[in-house]
Order: sequence, then C-alpha cells, then structure tokens
Amino acid sequence: MNLAPLNTMAVPARARWFVRATDLESLSEALAFAHQRDLPLLVLGGGSNMLLCEDFPGLVVQVANAGVKQVRDASGWRVTASAGENWHSLVMETVEAGIGGLENLALIPGNIGAAPIQNIGAYGVELESVFSSLRAMEVRTGEMVTFSRNDCDFGYRDSVFKNAARDRYIITEVEMHLPDQWVPRLGYPALQEAVSGVAEDISPAAVAQAVIKVRQSKLPDPATLPNSGSFFKNPVVSDTKYRALKESWPDLVAYQQENGWKLAAGWLIDRAGWRGRRRDGVGVHEAQALVLVNPGHAPGAEVAALAAEVAADIDARFGVRLEPEPRFYPEQPWMK
Ligand code: EPU
Repeated sequence: MNLAPLNTMAVPARARWFVRATDLESLSEALAFAHQRDLPLLVLGGGSNMLLCEDFPGLVVQVANAGVKQVRDASGWRVTASAGENWHSLVMETVEAGIGGLENLALIPGNIGAAPIQNIGAYGVELESVFSSLRAMEVRTGEMVTFSRNDCDFGYRDSVFKNAARDRYIITEVEMHLPDQWVPRLGYPALQEAVSGVAEDISPAAVAQAVIKVRQSKLPDPATLPNSGSFFKNPVVSDTKYRALKESWPDLVAYQQENGWKLAAGWLIDRAGWRGRRRDGVGVHEAQALVLVNPGHAPGAEVAALAAEVAADIDARFGVRLEPEPRFYPEQPWMK
C-alpha cells in the first residue's frame, strides 16, 4: 500500500499491511491482527503530522470513523466528534451554525483524532481551551478509556500522548464544550487587520473567514504544495539567552512566556537565509520559512535531511535547538 495520498507531505512510503478502520470494531480487529503477528503499529489520521522516512514494515491503521454530535447544555454546546472527521470541516460546521469557539483554528490540516496529540493551536487559541474529554482505545488491551482535560496534560504543541502515553492509545473521539458566551480572540495582529472591515458585525464565521485569509496568504495548501504546516516548534529560551540574541539581532521576533521567551523559529530560519531555498524536490516555503514543502514528492528521508541541515544551521548561528513538530518514522538521531 502506497501511503503518498495519505500523508500531507506526499512522501511515497509503503506500508506492509494497511487497514482503514471505519468503526471501533474494525479498529480493535486491526489491533488484534497486529498483536497476533507481532507487527509494529503506526496510526495515521489525516497524515498531516507524520514524516515517513522509510517504508513501514508493520501495520498502518488509518482511523476513519465518522460522526459529529452537537448537544445543548445549560451554558452552550457539547460537540462530540469522531477521530476520523476532518478538523476544518468541523470548525466550519460549528461557525456556520453560529457557534463560536473554534474559529481561530480554521483551516488547520488533519483530523479530529490528531488535534489533542499536539494540542493544535493558531492565532492565540489552543484546542485545550475548548477541550472537555476524549475517548481512546488502549493498544495493548483494546479497552476503551476516557481522558479528562487534566489527564491530557496539555502544553504548547504537546500532550501526554507525546510523552507518557505515547503509542499506548488510539484516540477515537473528542468532546469539546463551546460556551454561548462568545469572546472573539483577535489579539493576533494580522487577524485584527483582516477583521477590521467587519468589526461592527463580528461573528464566529467572520473570524473564521479572516483566519482563512491570513493562513492562505502564508501557509501552502497541502493539496497543491505538499507540507505539514509548521515543521518546527517555536523554541522557548531563557531570559539571559533572549537578551544575548536580542543584542546581536535587534529585530528578533519573540514573545514573553512564564518560563522565558518563545522565539519565532520562522524568523530564525528566514534570517539564516533558508526561506525559498529548494533542492532535490524539497524546500523551505517562500512565504513562511517555518514550513518545509515537498513539491517534488521526494522521499521522507530527503525532507528529514533538509530539516536536519536547517536545525544544525540554526544551532550553529544562534545557539538555539529546533524541535520538529511532526513525528518521524523511524525517529532521527539528530532530534535527541
Ligand atoms: N517570520 C519571518 N519570516 C518567516 C516566517 C515568520 O520573519 O519566514 C516572522 C513573522 O514576521 C512573524 C513571526 O515570525 O513576526 C511569526 O510568524 P507567524 O505569525 O507566521 O507565526 P509562527 O510563529 O511562525 C505559529 C504557529 C502556526 C500558527 C501561527 C499563528 C508554531 C510552531 N506555529 O507560527 O501553527 O498558525 O503561529 O498562530 O507554533 C502549525 O502548527 O502547523 C502552524 C501553522
């Protein structure tokens, strides 16, 4: 099975075994199949956060269960969505129904099941702010478990599913709570500018349209230019390190955090001269240096090689270590 159409970086890796699980029963059968044959397992959602650098020798499971429920409670809407549903479609469904809360997260590629793993975020909002709970299947036992928001241990592009619970669960359903009391989140400068024309009559749908406009101006559509969104996380550095950098580069872009300063990795990569560079079918996007693109549908190993070179250069120039956002199969030694 060729996985190129199933990952947004369009890398042509193959899976030895492949199952598209459209319900919980087929998911648990797939797990049993892998156990019986002692096969390694790889779970794919929308394929927007996985870089396959080699063919996969085991079973690839695509979680493809469907269904969205919107139920009213005293203070808003409880939205429950199956892991296989497309994230952006859910955002549009809610905002078009006049329900606010997800609009800043419009156009993020990928499926519902992947959203909690990296606590997707954009324009000042992260999934955790609307998240209530999720259901997941334990890989070892096939049993269903519920995770509360606390259990998920969310952080910046981070959760328990990237740490202690890594590879142990398959997320099957996510429940969010979208309160009636809607507060537009327009703190992000480019977003403020994009909604300035509609400020009189601001609605969740209008904010979603503004987010779409801003994203489309910088972020390539994976359907036409393969990519996985931001390829690196924005690194957080100490106050001392920030001051030293700021002295050498006064136009450095950084945001103060509780524990230091978050640097705009796109700025670092841009300033190092990588923006717009292409080679062997892979490259650094010309409108946003934090995005690696794969117009030539090159193998994942070539994308990984470019990422390693960019990260090594940023380390050499600025003394800052970049951590990739997507998962790599197999894991790369330079990431440790
Ligand atoms: N910048 C440059 N050159 C570049 C790219 C960026 O100088 O080539 C500068 C910009 O001028 C800007 C700053 O860096 O001042 C930040 O850039 P941008 O607003 O594009 O946001 P980002 O920090 O690069 C993050 C998220 C995005 C999210 C946006 C908006 C991460 C890793 N990325 O990007 O998330 O959409 O903010 O909230 O946190 C994703 O995770 O896949 C993603 C796209």
